[in-house]
Parts: sequence; C-alpha cells; structure tokens
Amino acid sequence: MKAAVVHEAGAPFTVEEVQIAAPQGGEVLIDVQASGLCHSDLSARNFGIGGAFPAIFGHEVAGIVSAVGPDVTEFRVGDHVVGSLIQACGQCLHCLSGDLVNCEHPERTERPADAEPRLSLNGSKLTQGMALGGFAQQALIDDRQLAKVPADMPWAQAALIGCGVLTGAGAVLNTAAVKQGETVVIIGAGGVGLNAISGAVVAGATTIIVTDIDDGKLERATHFGATHVVNSAKQDPVEAVLEITGGGAPHVFDFVGAAPTLKQAAGMLEQGGTMYIIGIGGPEAKLEINALEFLVARKNLRTVYMGHSNLKRDIPMYAELYRQGRFKLDELITKTISLSQIDEGYEALKDGSIARVVVTDLER
Ligand SMILES: NC(=O)c1ccc[n+]([C@@H]2O[C@H](COP(=O)([O-])OP(=O)(O)OC[C@H]3O[C@@H](n4cnc5c(N)ncnc54)[C@H](O)[C@@H]3O)[C@@H](O)[C@H]2O)c1
Ligand SMILES: [Zn+2]
Ligand SMILES: [Zn+2]
Repeated sequence: MKAAVVHEAGAPFTVEEVQIAAPQGGEVLIDVQASGLCHSDLSARNFGIGGAFPAIFGHEVAGIVSAVGPDVTEFRVGDHVVGSLIQACGQCLHCLSGDLVNCEHPERTERPADAEPRLSLNGSKLTQGMALGGFAQQALIDDRQLAKVPADMPWAQAALIGCGVLTGAGAVLNTAAVKQGETVVIIGAGGVGLNAISGAVVAGATTIIVTDIDDGKLERATHFGATHVVNSAKQDPVEAVLEITGGGAPHVFDFVGAAPTLKQAAGMLEQGGTMYIIGIGGPEAKLEINALEFLVARKNLRTVYMGHSNLKRDIPMYAELYRQGRFKLDELITKTISLSQIDEGYEALKDGSIARVVVTDLER
C-alpha cells in the first residue's frame, strides 16, 4: 500500500510503497477514506517529537473496516470508524474511572518492540505515528483507539472528530466543564480552536471572545459563534479582554502555546480563573509566572491533553450533534487534497481563508 513517509526531522512527506501487517489480537485493519492535517503532525515532523524516523504520521483518520483480528468483538468488516491518538489500555485504574488520557499503559495499544512491526519499508520498521499512521491507504489500529460513526457521516467531517474536535470541544466541555452563562476566551482560531468555539456554544457560554493574528480566521470564528473577536497583531489582546469582560475571564484557552500567548492568557484571567494550555508552541516555549501574583489572584493553570476525552463516548456524541445540525463540521473543511500533497496542505494552512485541510484522495 502507499503511504506518506517522513525520513528525518524536517524532511518532506513522500509517498512510497510500504508494507502493512495482517491484524492480530485486537487489531483492526481499515481502508483509509480521509485523513486531516493537524498542526501536531507538523510539530512531530519538524521537531522529531513523534517517535523515531522514518515514520508515517496522520492522526485524524476515518475509514472502513476491511479486516479484524481474532479478539475484536466491537467492530465488523464494513463498519465506518474514526481513530483517536488516545492510547488507553482499558484495564488500569485511570481507564476504569473514565480518565483515558492518563492511562498507565498506553503502549498496550501498540505491538511489543520485538514483535513483527505493523508497518515496514523494505524490511525495516516504520514508526506508526501515534499508533495510527493515517497518512496512508490503509492503517492497522488497536480497537481501543477506534470508535464507530454512522455510515451516512461524510468522511472528511468524521476524520476531524478524531483530534481537532475531541481536543477543542473537549477542552471546553470536559476539562473546563464550562457552564451556561459563562465567559470564555479562545486564543488561536485554527482547526482546533474553532471546535472550542463550537464546544462553548454547546455549553451555553454567553460571551465567547476569540483572538487570532489573522482577520480571515477571525471572520470564520464569528461564523462559528464568537461574540467578540480581537486581532492581537493590531490590538493588545489582554487590554481588549479586560475591557470586554470588565476585569478578566474565568476560562482562557491557549491554542497557540507560544511564549507571548501564554503570557497573554495569564493576563486575561479574572480572580480564580483558569488558563488552559493546549497549543504546542515548540520545545522552547516558556511561561514565566509570578507565583505570588498568581496565588494572590487565585489563578489556575491546567494543561489539556486531547480535551480529556473519552473517545468511545465522545466521538459518537459529536457525530450525532453534527447530524442534528448542532455542531459545525462542514465549515471546517476548506480544502481537500491527495496523499501526495501533504506539504502543500500544511503550507495552505498559513492562509487565513483555510480552516482545515483533509486528505480525501488516497490515490488508489
Ligand atoms: N494538547 C493537545 O492534546 C493537542 C491536540 C491537538 C492539537 N494540539 C495543538 O493545538 C494547536 C492548534 O492546532 P491547529 O491544528 O488548530 O493549528 P492551526 O495552525 O490550524 O491554528 C493555529 C491558529 O493560531 C493562530 N495564531 C498563531 N499565532 C498566534 C498568536 N500569536 N496569537 C493568536 N493567534 C495566533 C493562527 O493564525 C491559527 O489560526 C497546535 O499547536 C497543535 O499542535 C494540541
Ligand atoms: Zn491533532
Ligand atoms: Zn489504562
């Protein structure tokens, strides 16, 4: 089968013929139908933080089940499924209490290091990015990293649920548990931040302030439900938020995670407020906190991994909200590409008119 392989940090995504193993145990083989371009795969490629090279990335993946291992009971050939990078063993205390993102044995959804690899290139093992490897015609994934979606769900929309939606909306609905009537600030209206806006709408937040450095992204944010937008390249976003809120917000979500935005987020909090770090601003991004000032103002800091999502519950939930017209997914898909165009796809994301790019042509 063909896959987009990255050979070293910073190298392009190049489509090559690779080998994929047959499913064993709880593994499911899928024919990939759509694979979204999340910024995290770009970070994994650029900074080498996604495992050893060569590697196949792609972690917003949807497809049709084509074969199942002997231990699989949840899925059948023909099912439509969405993958998630949340690796949860299903047996530890965290998993048993629904806290999947803090599983003690995430490696159990991968094959052991000494087993035949799931993916290989000319006899050498390929890293399967996030145990998914969605930038490929086929993917061999543990059943614990998959959830079913309805057969009438369009592929590109389904794929986006796997990361951008789980993370963005989950940060608001699960991590922060925003309540009706509350105020939220969302920094960075990209493919993940837009879903946080949708999550805030579902939660019933009355004031949804969005900051970005691109007017095109802010225009889309308004369409998704932002009540106020601030271009932080033109205006001091902290001053703007303090003015709109009359003293700060209870929830500030940073979907950029760079030093300037982290500082802004801390400055936007009301007394007792919480800032949430979601964006991966690179290995050097630092936040300096004056501990006394933070303590006196009872400010809080939380990190958000995959929106504290329970993938088996939340993926079907967002699919259902979408079907009911209560969660925007169509508007996220502004560009579709083929497997060979992943580099161009990431380049296109710099354009404010693009929200999410999805590989929908797997070049079969
Ligand atoms: N924590 C997690 O579990 C998790 C999961 C998925 C993605 N992520 C991370 O979330 C972040 C967002 O992902 P994405 O796919 O939406 O990226 P994206 O590139 O689509 O969006 C980023 C947005 O931030 C804006 N931006 C850039 N610099 C800014 C600044 N200084 N101030 C305000 N806005 C600024 C951009 O214009 C863009 O709209 C990435 O860093 C990604 O790696 C984290
Ligand atoms: Zn992602
Ligand atoms: Zn576990």
